[in-house]
Amino acid sequence: MVDNFASSDASDMNSQTVSQNSGTRVLGSPLLTANGLVKRFGGLVAVDNAAIEVPQGSITGLIGPNGAGKTTLFNLLSSFITPDAGQVLFDSNPIQNLPPHEIAHRGMVRTFQVARVLSRLSVLENMLLATQKQTGERFWNVWLRGKQIAKEERQQRDRALEILHSVGLAHKANDYAGGLSGGQRKLLEMGRALMTNPKLILLDEPAAGVNPTLINQICDRILTWNREGMTFLIIEHNMDVIMSLCDRVWVLAEGQNLAVGTPQEIQTNSQVLEAYLGN
Ligand SMILES: Nc1ncnc2c1ncn2[C@@H]1O[C@H](COP(=O)(O)OP(=O)(O)O)[C@@H](O)[C@H]1O
Ligand SMILES: [Mg+2]
Repeated sequence: MVDNFASSDASDMNSQTVSQNSGTRVLGSPLLTANGLVKRFGGLVAVDNAAIEVPQGSITGLIGPNGAGKTTLFNLLSSFITPDAGQVLFDSNPIQNLPPHEIAHRGMVRTFQVARVLSRLSVLENMLLATQKQTGERFWNVWLRGKQIAKEERQQRDRALEILHSVGLAHKANDYAGGLSGGQRKLLEMGRALMTNPKLILLDEPAAGVNPTLINQICDRILTWNREGMTFLIIEHNMDVIMSLCDRVWVLAEGQNLAVGTPQEIQTNSQVLEAYLGN
């Protein structure tokens, strides 16, 4: 276990090789690093001097009892809220003062614990809206480059349908997103995140409210996307999901780092077990 989280030396996690269920994964240098993060809500310190590190190429887990501050930490990492103290580095650059859309543009996207979809648009339209910087956004380009736009739109549509297929929603492509179940909304949100081809995806409880068959499918997809080069940070209560996916797991309790280690180490850590049982 790491004792001093706030000043944990990033370099000792570089280029390590992790063997686990999913095979051998080679991890790179840190893609996302946060240190000394603090967030207060009135008298409550939701995140209290927390640190986290996500190596390039990893699937990193973030667990902890309800109310531990996990979602608040995600909000800080993705700049949806401003920290009272601390630093967030993405690709070695400080990002804590950038707006969320700029962070998304740099390649870090997140999903929400309660999925946010546009109910009155179709599932496919929700997917297509996620893409950025299409040529068609500029008037002169529309006029001068109609063919190029038609081609781009076709490509985006093909990609959207391919992703929808992989998250088990292809048959819903033309349905209103408002008609989806909670689990299906989560899948759609994950699909939307993928449309932007990000370097890092933050998933807030991807398996919550999703049926077991789909959970397995999501895990398989995450492993495939990871093999294709995408890095993940995942909040999840389902320990089977954490065990089968993650290289390394960070544990948060009462806003503070409680432990970090492999899923196997975390499952047998007495402090972690105590934090959960005490909940
Ligand atoms: N916007 C907010 N205003 C006030 N309190 C909040 C807010 N967001 C979260 N909290 C509180 O911060 C603590 C951590 O919440 P959260 O980050 O959602 O925990 P987790 O995701 O680990 O369950 C909880 O006590 C929660 O009630
Ligand atoms: Mg939460």
